[in-house]
Amino acid sequence: MKFEQPAGTNPIDQLRVIGQPLDRIDGPLKTTGSAPYAYEWHDEAPDVTYGYVVASPVAKGKITALETEAARRAPGVLAVVTAANAGKLEIGEMNTARLLAEYHIEHYHQAVALVVAETFEQARAAAKLVDVQYEREAGAYDLASEKPSVTAAPEDTPDKVVGDVDQALAQARYTLDAVYTTPDQSHMAMEPHASMAIWDNDALTVWTSNQMINWCRSDLAKTLVIPEEKVRVLSPYIGGGFGGKLFLRSDAVLAALGARVVKRAVKVMLPRPMIPNNTTHRPATNQHIRIGTDEDGKITAISHISWSGNLPGGTPETAVQQTELLYAGENRLTGLRLAELDLPEGNAMRAPGEAPGLMALEIAIDEMAAKVGMDPVQFRILNDTQVDPADPSRPFSRRQLIACLQTGADKFGWQQRQAEPAQVRDGRWLIGMGMAAGFRNNLLSASGARVHLDAQGIVTVETDMTDIGTGSYTIIAQTAAEMLGVPVSQVRVSLGDSAHPVSAGSGGQWGANTSTSGVYAACVKLRERIAAELGFNADEAEFAEGEIRAAGRRVPIAAAAAQGALSAEDTIEFGDLDQKYQQSTFAGHFAEVAVDTATGEVRVRRMLAVCAAGRILNPKTARSQVIGAMTMGLGGALMEELAVDTRHGYFVNHDMATYEVPVHADIPRQEVIFLDDTDPVSSPMKAKGVGELGLCGVGAAIVNAIYNATGVRVRDYPVTLDKLLQGLPETV
Ligand code: MOS
Repeated sequence: MKFEQPAGTNPIDQLRVIGQPLDRIDGPLKTTGSAPYAYEWHDEAPDVTYGYVVASPVAKGKITALETEAARRAPGVLAVVTAANAGKLEIGEMNTARLLAEYHIEHYHQAVALVVAETFEQARAAAKLVDVQYEREAGAYDLASEKPSVTAAPEDTPDKVVGDVDQALAQARYTLDAVYTTPDQSHMAMEPHASMAIWDNDALTVWTSNQMINWCRSDLAKTLVIPEEKVRVLSPYIGGGFGGKLFLRSDAVLAALGARVVKRAVKVMLPRPMIPNNTTHRPATNQHIRIGTDEDGKITAISHISWSGNLPGGTPETAVQQTELLYAGENRLTGLRLAELDLPEGNAMRAPGEAPGLMALEIAIDEMAAKVGMDPVQFRILNDTQVDPADPSRPFSRRQLIACLQTGADKFGWQQRQAEPAQVRDGRWLIGMGMAAGFRNNLLSASGARVHLDAQGIVTVETDMTDIGTGSYTIIAQTAAEMLGVPVSQVRVSLGDSAHPVSAGSGGQWGANTSTSGVYAACVKLRERIAAELGFNADEAEFAEGEIRAAGRRVPIAAAAAQGALSAEDTIEFGDLDQKYQQSTFAGHFAEVAVDTATGEVRVRRMLAVCAAGRILNPKTARSQVIGAMTMGLGGALMEELAVDTRHGYFVNHDMATYEVPVHADIPRQEVIFLDDTDPVSSPMKAKGVGELGLCGVGAAIVNAIYNATGVRVRDYPVTLDKLLQGLPETV
């Protein structure tokens, strides 16, 4: 199905099942521990063996000797796989560094060998016997020290320029010129990266934990230099991804290589301390923002340039993309600068671009509001735009930023806020309120599905879409139930299998809207087949309560499958509506914090998110997405930071004992409000995405609240207490 015109009324608009706060249909499997995750496929491989990764302790250099004999002779060991015996390996389309080092070491903890043994403990013990000699080379590891030499945009991401910001800044009444930094961050999904591989002659099956089945499959085939048709990837349950599992990673490649050598199933899990340096991370940014306004506070100039680092061949963190679209202003400049660093590979982490970009921009806007002497909510409303500021002929499909901010201010009790900082005390605590706008683009890509109807009236949906803890199973079941007029209990959903039609996958908050649209398309075809089978006109028939109905006639749809199951398959393909209309999602984030006057400890007391994110397919799973994202935003504001060893080039705090994320005790009452934002331009579902929007702006809202509480303006994340102590008011 091609989606080239805004959607008219369709069966989804009935909202009998869609839009209802249904419990997750996979909930019982999850809560009873019977949903198999990547390392838990037992019946599929009774003779499984275990691989343990040997990872480089050097960030940059050469392997000068690699001795595996001692490991090979250790108890239980079946094989040691290295580049020398792995066969020809290429680099995946989505990978920057090799997933098994050849001669050159490209980053710390890059895999150099896999030891395969009968048990995990034997493999781990033998891995210590692999003797690798390295010649260390000098590398670049510090963004701050590389920054001065990086002054031009990368060729494929040129600066975007409208008008003349320098001139407009020179003429502006109020100006800001400030630098903000965000640190490297690690996804830290609860489920570690893990895979199991089995070969059947030249055909490979990999059970893994991956957000994008088709990317994983095609890059696995490319890496191993085998035909894609010979690779099957399964990942039906995933314990969190956050972008860290968008791509093929070393666990899958090494399991496949090990299994090819030992001719048995091989499981490989990356130990937690290996994950931050072996896999990808969100790159640190250094963002320079300049804003100018006229006498009334209207933005006349806005400039945002972001520096980030990556391995040679890697891409920059796109931290300026919201600045292109969030506020009006005639003179604009946005640009990216990329420093070559020899740290591990940087790549997408939840809301890549907007999350770190808004952490900076939305503090800058708060600072500007203070300079102009306006309330920060009013300042944002004054500078709203309903069109793409760089191309006024492109309207937003829907843009309810103002409603998000006003609703949020109203519900949060914003009028109680003292504009003057450091005015409110509660015992030893200073209390403050802050807010920020949330913004994330709505991304569209093709998504396919297959649906079956059997003689019992059971509907089965198959798509390679994944559920990374988000609720995909449930909203897909709701979509099929709505389209075919059956209860959700009559719908079975099979996900995460490359044998199913290719979906858009779970990434960039596009998964819910696109994957359900693919299911919608397949269901339209199945409705036509059912109607034809039972002598109805599909366009006039209604599907309800297990029946197809028209003109006083009603027949159970199961009757259409009496002679055998009916099946239909289709893919939703999006035309150019995202060119004609800017499609984005919006939020107002509000936070109240308490800062200990003696220690600088920050406690977040209340949080509210008001979201306009298209039609909400299931308010319960959507709310879970948003409160999870708000929690991540709190971590980003106050805790999360990969500490870089700038001498040796690695992330020091590479485990969950030292990489701090919020725990339950850190999280206050969180409230989420969804505005009605049904958007016929986005898809037949009229939905958008919410999973990343919930994070975008949260960090800044908290930092702005800290400023309001204390009068201390911190521009470097995370806001740890050492950055506050100096500036706190005298307590005695
Ligand atoms: Mo998201 S960072 O595209 O999983």
